[in-house]
Amino acid sequence: MLNKAPHVAVAMRTIRTVHAISTWSRALHRQGVTIGMVPTMGAFHAGHLALIRAARRSCEAVVVSVFVNPRQFGRGEDVSRYPRRLRSDAALCAREGVDVLFAPTQEGMYPPGFEASVSVRSLARRWEGECRPGHFEGVATVVTKLLSLVRPEIVFFGQKDFQQTLVVKRLVEDLNPGTRMVVLPTVRDPDGLALSSRNPRLTPAERRAAPVLCAALQAGREAIRSGIRSGSRIRKMMHQVVSGERLAQVDYLAVCDPSTLEPRPRLTGTVVLLGAIRLGRTRLIDNLLVRT
Ligand code: PAF
Repeated sequence: MLNKAPHVAVAMRTIRTVHAISTWSRALHRQGVTIGMVPTMGAFHAGHLALIRAARRSCEAVVVSVFVNPRQFGRGEDVSRYPRRLRSDAALCAREGVDVLFAPTQEGMYPPGFEASVSVRSLARRWEGECRPGHFEGVATVVTKLLSLVRPEIVFFGQKDFQQTLVVKRLVEDLNPGTRMVVLPTVRDPDGLALSSRNPRLTPAERRAAPVLCAALQAGREAIRSGIRSGSRIRKMMHQVVSGERLAQVDYLAVCDPSTLEPRPRLTGTVVLLGAIRLGRTRLIDNLLVRT
């Protein structure tokens, strides 16, 4: 933990331009202040708050970015449907003692002529990468840009987006932005549904059906704990659970190596159970790490 000095509460600042955020970050670095960053697309839930609180506990200054990044939405995915609640997000940040809310505009982040892109090839290929072509290139590009602007000592992510955490971990190791990454456990509703900014878009019937994804992963975990070591058997069992819910369509259910995300035919050590389903127009993802 980097707690050098107690946090002195001052009014939260909202910064809207890349120039102003890098000026702010340079000034703090000159003073030796440790910066923690929570990159988000807004529409906060308790999972975001857990990340913000962890940053607040371990760093002297906390930046939360809210930017709905158009580059990580694939063809056929409607970026305009993504929930936007900047005003209430800002109020929550202020309440949590965030120092800076960085909410840039699209033109500010991607001015005319912007051409650079960052890709993390093998980790981005499967699963979400296959269902959402271009998604991880968009994520890696925006995260690289945010880290270059803010230069945080620690950046905080949630385990719910497991593949994203691996992609970002790889880029942090490969590109040396001087940042350490912390991944915090998924926050769930009492019925097991992993919190997501997309959940409020579920209809009441879809919301009732949604815990089936977590239930499938839990069934997989129980089967592994009971001694089953065949990846394909576990996968079939998870499929069986989801097929009991008529509203749900499976994008993938997989048993993988937690560092490479390659499917595991025989299970040893730790594995990750990954899943993505669609309920109407809403897509849900989830994962569980399991020790065999
Ligand atoms: O996880 C998210 O909210 C986004 O993918 C991120 C990391 C903020 C990049 O836009």
